[in-house]
Parts: sequence; C-alpha cells; structure tokens
Amino acid sequence: MNREVNEQGELLIAGIPAKELAEQYGTPLYVYDVERIRQNARAFIQTFKDYEVRAQVAYASKAFSSIAMLQVAKQEELSLDVVSEGELYTALEAEFPVEKIHMHGNNKSLKELEMAVDHKIGCIVVDNFYEIELLSSILEQKQTTMEVLLRVTPGIEAHTHDYILTGQEDSKFGFDLSSGQAEEAFLKISQQKRLKLKGLHCHIGSQIFETSGFTMATRKLFQAMQDWRKRHGFLAEVLNLGGGFGIQYTSEDDPLDLNQYAHALIKEVKEQSSMLSYPMPEIWIEPGRAIAGDAGVTLYTVGSIKNIPGVRTYLSVDGGMTDNIRPALYQAKYEAVLASKMNQPMEQEYTIAGKCCESGDMLIWEVELPKADHKDLLAMFSTGAYGYAMANNYNRFQKSAVVFAEGGEHSLVVRREDYREMTRLDLSYEKREGKQA
Ligand code: LLP
Repeated sequence: MNREVNEQGELLIAGIPAKELAEQYGTPLYVYDVERIRQNARAFIQTFKDYEVRAQVAYASKAFSSIAMLQVAKQEELSLDVVSEGELYTALEAEFPVEKIHMHGNNKSLKELEMAVDHKIGCIVVDNFYEIELLSSILEQKQTTMEVLLRVTPGIEAHTHDYILTGQEDSKFGFDLSSGQAEEAFLKISQQKRLKLKGLHCHIGSQIFETSGFTMATRKLFQAMQDWRKRHGFLAEVLNLGGGFGIQYTSEDDPLDLNQYAHALIKEVKEQSSMLSYPMPEIWIEPGRAIAGDAGVTLYTVGSIKNIPGVRTYLSVDGGMTDNIRPALYQAKYEAVLASKMNQPMEQEYTIAGKCCESGDMLIWEVELPKADHKDLLAMFSTGAYGYAMANNYNRFQKSAVVFAEGGEHSLVVRREDYREMTRLDLSYEKREGKQA
C-alpha cells in the first residue's frame, strides 16, 4: 500500500510527520486523516447522485464515535446510525441533525427509546416484538408518532468472502423472514397507529468483499415487499441494506472500491423494482468501517525487544488490546511500519506485542520491519474503525488520545485519559458491622 514519506524517510499522515504528532501528543495515539474520511463519505454519496436515485448514507457511528467525528459526518451530509443512549448523546452533543439519525439495537431500553422519541430522531429500526410494545406505549403516553423500519434477517450470512444461505437465520437481531415471523411483526406494527412503517432493513455482516451477498439480500427483501404488497397493500418507501463494506487492512485484502459497492446495490434495486413494477424505494446504507477504517493510524512507541533464537522476536509497544482488541478478538491482521525508518531496508520479521498481562495480547503476529530499536515509533494502519471504539481499560491502562489531521494542521479531538479520570467512578469501601443473626 502507498505510504506518504518525506525526504528524511519519515512517515507522513495527512502531510504531517508521524514523529511530530507522537512528540506533541504522546503514544499510543490514534491519528485520523480527515480528508480520507471525507473522500470515503463522498464516494458513496456521489455514486447515488450519479445514478439519480434517492438515498441516505448513514455513518454507523459504532465504528468510531466522537464529537469531532460526528461533526465531520454532519459536514459531509451523512446520516447517522446510533445503537445506544451513549451514541445518541454523542450525536446530540455534536449537534447532528436529529431527523437524520436512526437507532438500532436488539435490546433497546425504555430509556433509550424515550430519549429517541423525546429528541424526535428520524427513525427507529424495530428489532423485536418486545420493542414494538415498548415503543408503542411510549408513543401513546407522549401522544406522538415515530417512523420505523422493520429489521429482518434474510437468511444470508456473510463470512467475508462467501455467504451461507440459511433457512431460518440464527441471529439475535431482527425478525426471521422465512418462518413468517417478520410478517407477524409487520402486522403488529401496522395495527399500531403511532408507528409509521417506512420500510425494511437488513444487515448481512461486516468486512464483506463481494457484492453478491448484498444483491442476494436485496432480492429477498423485494420478495417480502412484493408479498406484503399483494397481501396487505403495503408499499415500502425505504430499503435499508445495512453496512458491511469491506476495506483493505493488508495487501492480502483485495476489496472493491466504494463506488463498486454502491453501483452493484443500485443496479440490483433498480432491476428488482422494474421487474416487479415496484415503485423505486429510497436506498439507505449504513457503512461504518468503510468511512472511518482506512482514515485511522495508530502510533506506538517501541519498548522491550525480546528475541527467542530460532523462534521469533517480540517487539513490545506501549499499547495493545486495550486500544485495539481486534487482533486478539478476531485474529484481525494489520500492517505496520517504523515511522522514522521508512527508507531503511526490511531486515527482520517481528511479532508486535501489546503490554497487557495476557499472552494473547498481540497486535501483529508477523511483520517485516527494518532493524528496530527501543523508542522507535511504530505506525499501524487502517485502525480507524472498531479500534478506539472498542478500547478498554484492562490492566487499568488509560485510553489513548485521538488527533485529527487535515490540510497540514492537526488538533486533539479526544484527550488522553489520566489516572484520576480512570478512578473517577470508584468509591471507597469501609467494612461495616453486620447485623447480628
Ligand atoms: N449496520 C448495522 C445494523 C450493523 O450491525 C453494523 C455493524 C453496521 C451497520 C456497520 O458495519 P460496517 O460497515 O462497519 O461493517 N467489531 C467488529 C465489527 C462489528 C460490526 C457490527 N455491526 C469488527 O471490529 O470487525
């Protein structure tokens, strides 16, 4: 993959030497190339414009949610997918237009639903029977209405490169199409005058490299829409095909570009709609990774280096599964470089280890690097999605800082956590005399 390097052989991120950023903000550090986020967003939006179809591209904020990130999403005229009170709160803090927010979740709490209703968000993606009851009663109590989509499981499971067609999909999300459960939910929603059903939603998986899964799902949803039109006179205005568009983490990955995904989706929706004489619905998608993923880089400082002759060399960095749990959790692969040795020849294979007390805390199992020294700066690429978002305080490590870089400028957008903040929720405990039996 192409990396930007200056004459001194230093890695540049959005035109700024990685070393300068590490010196100013410390490591581990998440750095986002904001222009890249913008390009990713524009690529999706532009394709829909080119095809002159009505569409909404909602950023799935679970990939990386922060006030600054959502401000950029707003500037790029994206819509927003939130899945919790916390994500909705962040969106409100970012002054994201509420009518462009929709909410997901397989177990939305009363409080989350009330918050969504009170703030008049655009739409709720209804996931289960309990939620239909809960939401209806909130709306009744507040004497208002809410637009909803019905989330269905179309029986297509994407495993990155291939798809499994399952009769009844085993998923905690949504209503099963094949068993008639989705139609039962549809009927329940139709009986609730305060729920305004706009259409259907499905999400078939994540980090998908082929378009066939999306087109298969589109056909399944159209089939249901056509059945419900015939049986119940329902016309879907919206068809939400979820997220899941795969990105390149390492040179082994050969993803489609964003235009190709959007192109394949639009083509299929157009074909289905003309074949069934179904009025063309508005197409909604919810990319998370494909917007934020390749815009993020994590910078670490190299510490101990342990060589086990004939076995491997562990190169430990000052972060690990606390700032990026994906390698430990999913065996996710990444590429890395030594940021100040970009012009030096590759000399050795290293295993990049984190600093958690956990043998599985590895960031990269095999990576070729120039000869590494203590205090070298290591840059790991494409960490922008589900990296900081899944950060945790295991071993009471502090969450790293996040910096946005654009147009030769950089600014801190999430402060580094400090020890005081880490213990801010802790209360002391004193042993009390128990009641005598
Ligand atoms: N819409 C729905 C309903 C979703 O469940 C998801 C992701 C998305 C959209 C966005 O998917 P994306 O475009 O980012 O693939 N933590 C995992 C990924 C979990 C994705 C969960 N749902 C990872 O690090 O790979």
